[in-house]
Amino acid sequence: MLENQFSRTALGAALHRAAHQTLERGLVFQDPFACAILGVTPEEAAAQDGGDERRRRMRLFIAARSWLAERRIATAVARGVRQVVVLGAGLDTFGLRNPHAAEGLRVFEVDHPDTQAWKRERIAAMGAQAPALTFAPCDFERDDLGEALARADVDRSAPTFFMWLGVTPYLTREAAMTTLRTIAETPGAEVVFDYTEGAERDQGEAQAFHRELLERVAAVGEPIIGFFEPQALARDLLALGLTEQEDFNSQEIAVRFFGVPRDQAPSGAAGHVIWARRPDRSAA
Ligand SMILES: C[S@@+](CC[C@H](N)C(=O)[O-])C[C@H]1O[C@@H](n2cnc3c(N)ncnc32)[C@H](O)[C@@H]1O
Repeated sequence: MLENQFSRTALGAALHRAAHQTLERGLVFQDPFACAILGVTPEEAAAQDGGDERRRRMRLFIAARSWLAERRIATAVARGVRQVVVLGAGLDTFGLRNPHAAEGLRVFEVDHPDTQAWKRERIAAMGAQAPALTFAPCDFERDDLGEALARADVDRSAPTFFMWLGVTPYLTREAAMTTLRTIAETPGAEVVFDYTEGAERDQGEAQAFHRELLERVAAVGEPIIGFFEPQALARDLLALGLTEQEDFNSQEIAVRFFGVPRDQAPSGAAGHVIWARRPDRSAA
């Protein structure tokens, strides 16, 4: 990330979610605050993001990863989890919507300080109230995430759900693994994150789209540098105690969750969304 500027890819992801509300009528993921956090009308979001197959694919992937994560959060809350940490939150609005506030769910947002300052300005501009939302600035490349969480009053001994979307591609391997280690230290830790295997894993059109994306994000100062190979990642998570895992590539997500016939599902296989959990042996 470039110093002294908010994340441009966070702006891009938020625009995809905002446009999804109109262009696909929120079919995959409904977010009533998606336009407000950006300060745009639904029409403006749709006009800025529409009319392009590359953007549509990315939009649907971004909508799907949020949907998958929030679905898992709902299951975790039903199991008794009362803390969600949104890592690299960007303009994600889960903490503002907090659909589990009545059950006492606390939400913590961790992000690069420059992006977080911008997010706070955006929240103030929309006049939103988020009493159960706490901010914890942290640069994953430089700072100690455990300390940032402790400073924000996250209970490190309580089961915690970590939502970490759209971040691993921008991190060095060391920062990503350090973050995973911190996550896995929490008893009953649960995480949903996405990762990429690299453009070569996609085929045909999907690969061309992927290569264009690499160029686009590098041009705004946020090059994609973090890649994972699914089997090696599964072993690494296992070694960290995150023994329960489910990993889906974008094609599988379309088929399994959205009923797209396999032969019509997008051929992209490089992007994955993974859920992993460290069972809490002390729980009943
Ligand atoms: C593509 S955006 C995703 C934002 C959000 N999770 C979403 O899905 O809309 C990438 C996010 O990662 C954060 N990020 C990138 N590098 C970071 C670092 N070294 N430390 C902390 N946050 C970082 C950015 O600030 C930004 O919020």
